Amino acid sequence: MTFSPIFLRETDSTNTYCKMLAAENAPHGTAVIACRQTAGRGRLGRRFESPEGAGLYCSVLLREGFKAENVGLITPCAAVAAAKAIDRISGADSGIKWVNDIFLGGRKVCGILTEARLPDYIIIGIGINLLSVKESLPAELHSVASSIEDETGRRFTPKEMADVLLPFLAEELEHMESGAFLHEYRERSVIIGKDAEVHEGNRVYPVHVLGIDDDGKLVVETPDGVRTLHSGDVSVRFE
Ligand code: BTN
Repeated sequence: MTFSPIFLRETDSTNTYCKMLAAENAPHGTAVIACRQTAGRGRLGRRFESPEGAGLYCSVLLREGFKAENVGLITPCAAVAAAKAIDRISGADSGIKWVNDIFLGGRKVCGILTEARLPDYIIIGIGINLLSVKESLPAELHSVASSIEDETGRRFTPKEMADVLLPFLAEELEHMESGAFLHEYRERSVIIGKDAEVHEGNRVYPVHVLGIDDDGKLVVETPDGVRTLHSGDVSVRFE
């Protein structure tokens, strides 16, 4: 497949815009890219800072090529594509923090928000920080968020990043059902084997991360035994 991108100067969220296009019967492979988002969204209701021209803010619409029961594999599969694309363009060696964060130099440079209306469509939203985020981000995010420029000293435009990302994404999604990408997903994991904290609603508890299963779920050892965590419910923090 190939993606057909629509470029916007500004929108609230490319995921929301893509959802609107989906409701108007936009075809499989539609992609929306904006220079700026006024209300970029992250997982678990968080905000995704999206200053003008400083990142790639992109959402793609899928109408085929997935089974409803495999929808949990979409985000890990897209994460492998984004990690490969970031490495290809910048020469970096990125890691993946389950489930949807791409890390460079110990900090997050990319996040993914997948939203589905099954069985009709899935929207994958990918945000990649390209240019230095130090001035545009609140100070409390400086230790956790970074950009390709901050980590490699190289500057890329959203268009240059999209031209590398979209073919990688198409290629990975094409073979998603085989599960082969999970090997690379695990290899790139920055949390397997680490001690971490799981945040589940109001509960916070310590875990040791054992691995990622074939459904893309996180397998952890908790004080009460081994548990399998679903990405919709939890976030994981580690040192
Ligand atoms: C996260 O880090 O929790 C996910 C961030 C996803 C951000 C991207 S930017 C393009 C698309 N539009 C959005 O509103 N969110 C995603």
